[in-house]
Amino acid sequence: METLDLGGTDPRVQRPGERLLSRARRSVDEALREFTGDLPPGAKLWSGFHFGWWDERGRPDSARPGKALRPALALGCGESVGGAAPDIVPVGAAVELVHNFSLIHDDVIDGDRTRRDRPTVWSIFGVPAALLGGDALLVHACAVLARALPERGMPLVRRLCGTVQELIEGQAMDLAFEARDEVSPEEYTAMALGKTGSLMGAACALGALAAGSERPRADHLDRFGRALGLAFQITDDLLGLFGDARVTGKPVGADLARRKKTYPVLAALTAGGPAAAELAELYARPEPLTGDQVAHGARLVERAGGRDLAREAARDALEQAFGHLDAAEPLPGPRRDLAGLALMMTDRSH
Ligand code: IPE
Ligand code: IPE
Ligand code: MG
Ligand code: MG
Repeated sequence: METLDLGGTDPRVQRPGERLLSRARRSVDEALREFTGDLPPGAKLWSGFHFGWWDERGRPDSARPGKALRPALALGCGESVGGAAPDIVPVGAAVELVHNFSLIHDDVIDGDRTRRDRPTVWSIFGVPAALLGGDALLVHACAVLARALPERGMPLVRRLCGTVQELIEGQAMDLAFEARDEVSPEEYTAMALGKTGSLMGAACALGALAAGSERPRADHLDRFGRALGLAFQITDDLLGLFGDARVTGKPVGADLARRKKTYPVLAALTAGGPAAAELAELYARPEPLTGDQVAHGARLVERAGGRDLAREAARDALEQAFGHLDAAEPLPGPRRDLAGLALMMTDRSH
């Protein structure tokens, strides 16, 4: 099973991160249930199914929830500048809504049928429902933020809208790369910073701004979240190749089958040698890959050194993230929480 040993396995380091995460999950879950109460009936059914609150017919369920990483980043960063949870929770809810909009659409784009160990929205209700359900969560995120912070909310909503544009651009690049033979590490970084880093950066910056932070400090935290997002995405790429589907709750090998230019694959392709050449040949085939070919592809990535190189790249991005965190001069308690969370996010099995 894929785990990244970045020195974060020590429970004394991770425990503060776990506590931050469970506080964020509790508060945001309450807020999300309240906020989704006023969605139109269709969107309520699709999004409640996606959140795991009910089954496809609307009967109560308690399926695996998301990890609530972005609300935890918002909470930790808001607290790191001296803020209190009630001021920060609306930001946590808003970024979690944007995140879930992006996941519902992402599963359509990637053609994935499983997420959080459950069928994806499009695979149950169809693509039109997934488009509309995702849209509903996206506009709701802006409404939540504007309503919760009527006096000071507009700049935050504007920043969140800019983030969504970056996320969309990152997703567009990810899609375009599928059809290309060559993608440079710089292009990968721009893509991952867009699709994943931008929202994590926004969670951090908006959490701090909602807590009354000055702009420069919030900007350091934005960079912390972005670099962490890059490390997180590379870890996600590794889990998509070498993880255990029962633990990740997502299909393993699907990225490879779609010829996604994930970091481990790119690193393997540029490493040279016979395994890299064979992998390039596999990626160039026009026909769909069989299950055996996908499994063989993962072995080629490993043999060419892509797995180790990806781990190194994640570690580098995490180190950069810590540099930005410290530049924001966080309060010591929240710094410990955020550091623990950052290590958990890059040393995980799901
Ligand atoms: C998955 O994000 C999408 C990526 C950016 C890789 P998470 O792993 O945070 O998703 P959930 O909300 O916990 O399911
Ligand atoms: C992550 O996309 C980014 C967004 C959803 C915006 P991926 O396609 O890499 O993530 P998973 O593996 O499906 O969660
Ligand atoms: Mg996907
Ligand atoms: Mg995707």
